[in-house]
Amino acid sequence: MHILITGCGGFIGSHLLERLLQRADVTVSGWDHQQAKIEHLLGHQRLNLRGADLYACGNDAHLREDVAAADAVINLAAICNPSQYNTRPLGVIRSNFTDMLRLADLCAEHGKWLIHVSTSEVYGRTLASYTGDAAYEDPALYELREDSTPFTLGPVQNQRWTYACAKQLMERYVYAHHYEHGMPFSIIRPLNFFGPRMDFIPGFEGEGIPRVLACFLSALLRNEPLQLVDGGHARRVITGIDDAVDAFMLLLDKPEAGKGQIFNIGNPANETTIRGLADTMRRLFAEAVGDPAYRDHPMHTVPGETFYGPGYEDSDRRLPNIDKARDLLGWEPVVPLESVLRETIAYYVEKYWHVASRKPRTSAAPSSATGTA
Ligand code: UGA
Repeated sequence: MHILITGCGGFIGSHLLERLLQRADVTVSGWDHQQAKIEHLLGHQRLNLRGADLYACGNDAHLREDVAAADAVINLAAICNPSQYNTRPLGVIRSNFTDMLRLADLCAEHGKWLIHVSTSEVYGRTLASYTGDAAYEDPALYELREDSTPFTLGPVQNQRWTYACAKQLMERYVYAHHYEHGMPFSIIRPLNFFGPRMDFIPGFEGEGIPRVLACFLSALLRNEPLQLVDGGHARRVITGIDDAVDAFMLLLDKPEAGKGQIFNIGNPANETTIRGLADTMRRLFAEAVGDPAYRDHPMHTVPGETFYGPGYEDSDRRLPNIDKARDLLGWEPVVPLESVLRETIAYYVEKYWHVASRKPRTSAAPSSATGTA
């Protein structure tokens, strides 16, 4: 099987590439101009890496060649960091929609199976969040089903939704190619995959605001308070990256079951509030570094617009129904939340604890002007 992966140097791509290259029957053409996360795979004899920008001038002939040679095309290239949705909206729309059109068009032209990696953000906010049903009593108002749940995005000025909207339109574009040209496709909607190599750790691997796992790890390593956006009441399901990669592998092995389908890939058993996630992470971090004081590491509440800037609005809850992935692919996520976090924290403690600036510990007592969790 020959597979083309765009964005193979990112977090998901690096783990998927590792797994694919373990199989002797698989060859990969990978595209990514960032390769730090796949350094250990560079030079692999079954990997043909194009270290170029997918859409830069002059690369089209290579892209066409790679699409034509592939049995499946997995599209992972994206800007998927919420801190950019309201601060770089044009770049977000271009990277998640405009730039992607070419790849979908080529797949349609060559009749290739496009596995498009979308996002659970296409669902937007739950209906329950609009009806004021904060207790989430009726699953019909919050459980996310691939083929029946409506997409509920906020107003245009709330630029948080630029990403969700671009991803949604891309899903519709892929589906339209299927409808009009018979292009085989599958769409995967990931739900908060966590694991080593996710994003970047501010202060150690660059600066900025990554997703929540990296934000909390950076704060713990730098001995700064964990920031709970709007109190940390939002809920997410956390999915171990190994479980997530299993879903990709099952899909590749069962093309007839997976073609023409959209799949939620997430672990509903690992649902947590962000506040709960912060609490679990500080406890497991204390365990990992052998310092019980971290169990009471300070947590502060910060308004969303202060943390991310104007135009931020949150997804309140994303609880997926995963019956389709279970029934059609035989996929079952098995790694519990604490195991996902323990493994990930151990990876970063091993990597950075010896260089982490360990300021004298401060009291866990509240001190933030923006409130305290
Ligand atoms: C992001 C992307 O937009 C999705 O496309 C992607 O599918 C998803 O991550 C994912 O990893 O699967 P989101 O879950 O909102 O969506 O991203 P995070 O930045 O990880 O935020 C999760 C929650 O933590 C949000 O409520 C956010 O406000 C909060 N948060 C984040 C904090 O409370 N503190 C922080 O320091 C950072």
